[in-house]
Amino acid sequence: MSIRIGGLRVAVSVIIPAAGSGKRMGGGTAKQFLPLRGEPVLVHTVRLFSECPLVDEIVIAAHDRETTRELVGSLPKVTHIVAGGPERQDSVWAALQLVHSRPRVVCVHDAARPLLPADVLEQVLLAAGGYPAQVVAVPVKDTVKVVGSDGYVTGTPDRATLWAVQTPQVFWAEPLLHAFRSARAEGFLGTDCASLLERQGVPVRVHPGSHENLKLTTPEDFLLAEAILGRRSRG
Ligand code: CTP
Ligand code: MG
Repeated sequence: MSIRIGGLRVAVSVIIPAAGSGKRMGGGTAKQFLPLRGEPVLVHTVRLFSECPLVDEIVIAAHDRETTRELVGSLPKVTHIVAGGPERQDSVWAALQLVHSRPRVVCVHDAARPLLPADVLEQVLLAAGGYPAQVVAVPVKDTVKVVGSDGYVTGTPDRATLWAVQTPQVFWAEPLLHAFRSARAEGFLGTDCASLLERQGVPVRVHPGSHENLKLTTPEDFLLAEAILGRRSRG
């Protein structure tokens, strides 16, 4: 349906990096293809965007494009399944090649986060008119220490200033493309997209997310995800 920025109608393109190998999860099958309450993780994730009325198109980056096409190729709004790259940043870059220069908002969301609440997605997209870069994040629950390579603590940042950053991350296309080009030219590799824009001095706004929006990373995350989906299905 698209959103409005300064009176202009702007399309919403979603990029889903799904080309990881899930080293920390272990096992023979990449986590995005593992079943969660009977359906592959990737199906849960893509459906969230297919069903969001604000989303116009979905581009997925995957290594196993055949399997990906079989699983989600026919879901509404999925327009392209591109080959992923060696790092997450490379996979997002590959998908970005299909995002055209006309004004639009780009929403990047990990395939491995199938529990994103629909209202968080909708709210962060609706806010996009006001901010060139947004990250969904939650305040950290643990005390976080900085630890040196010798294994000793070197500092304890004030927890009130620390946020655990998730996806979706939502950007205006032009600064996003510029930040990616600069990072590639300078050999900078970030673990999220926003860090590329931070380097360019683009202000990044934090949008409050949900602790339920976990990234399936290690096996116990699946237990928690099953429990959350179970509770949701019971209403
Ligand atoms: N991803 C990607 N291309 C890569 C690496 C990661 O598209 N080369 C995707 C993953 O599929 C995942 C998201 O980026 O949906 C977040 O990455 P992460 O949770 O780190 O997944 P993996 O890289 O698969 O896991 P690990 O780091 O444990 O190997
Ligand atoms: Mg990874």
